[in-house]
Amino acid sequence: MKGVILAGGLATRLRPLTQVTNKHLLPVYNKPMIFYPLEAMQKAGIKEVLLTSSPDHSGDFANLLKSGEDLGLKIYYGVQQNAKGGIADGISYAKEFAKNEKIVVILGDNIFRTDLKSSIQKFEQKDKGAIVYGVRMPTHSRQYGVIEMDSKGMVLSIEEKPENPKSDIAQTGIYMYDERVFDFISTLKPSARGELEVTDLNNIYLKEGSLQCERLDWWIDAGTSYDELLRANNLVAEKVKTGEL
Ligand code: G1P
Repeated sequence: MKGVILAGGLATRLRPLTQVTNKHLLPVYNKPMIFYPLEAMQKAGIKEVLLTSSPDHSGDFANLLKSGEDLGLKIYYGVQQNAKGGIADGISYAKEFAKNEKIVVILGDNIFRTDLKSSIQKFEQKDKGAIVYGVRMPTHSRQYGVIEMDSKGMVLSIEEKPENPKSDIAQTGIYMYDERVFDFISTLKPSARGELEVTDLNNIYLKEGSLQCERLDWWIDAGTSYDELLRANNLVAEKVKTGEL
């Protein structure tokens, strides 16, 4: 199983902070944001990670993280040429790197804690399928992909930013895919916003009945706005002090 971290996008909403560097390198409490998904990969037992960023400031990642050795990882770097290509486009860059292994994908601004290690071990035993991580968002799930699931964790529907959400479970930026993911991405068409959508990709697995959802207790999407970044700083400070992170 190999790791893929997507740290692209232009993050125009966070200017002028993102004129200094890529948003995933901005501080969250005591570390640059990108350390949180990288540490999640390392704790999950992943050894090799492809970190894909957009052309702006992409060299800053290598300057900071180098080979990845200090974090116990081997980091490879990719550049997503079209910064607005979308999550599924970002994943497609990992085709050669994955070399027919399954992959775990984490968006570079996602901070969370869960036992990814045992999920990965179970997922590796499976022939095929995908896993998406969800979190309860009682008030504003319609800003996200919304997941409807059964009591066994199988996904029944998944809709991107629906007007009338069928559940209060939001799709986060943590996914696991089998080896077929790159063939599936090659069949996707850009959405109305011009992106290859992760929700469209996940719906391919859903149609064959192989998409599962695992739940997170808490999750922060740190890079969406100044307020979320501030909330991430405060929440992470609290979690670090209580030993939860
Ligand atoms: C993307 C996905 C969405 C998901 C979200 C998580 O949305 O399309 O399904 O809930 O990431 O952060 P975006 O941030 O691109 O609008």
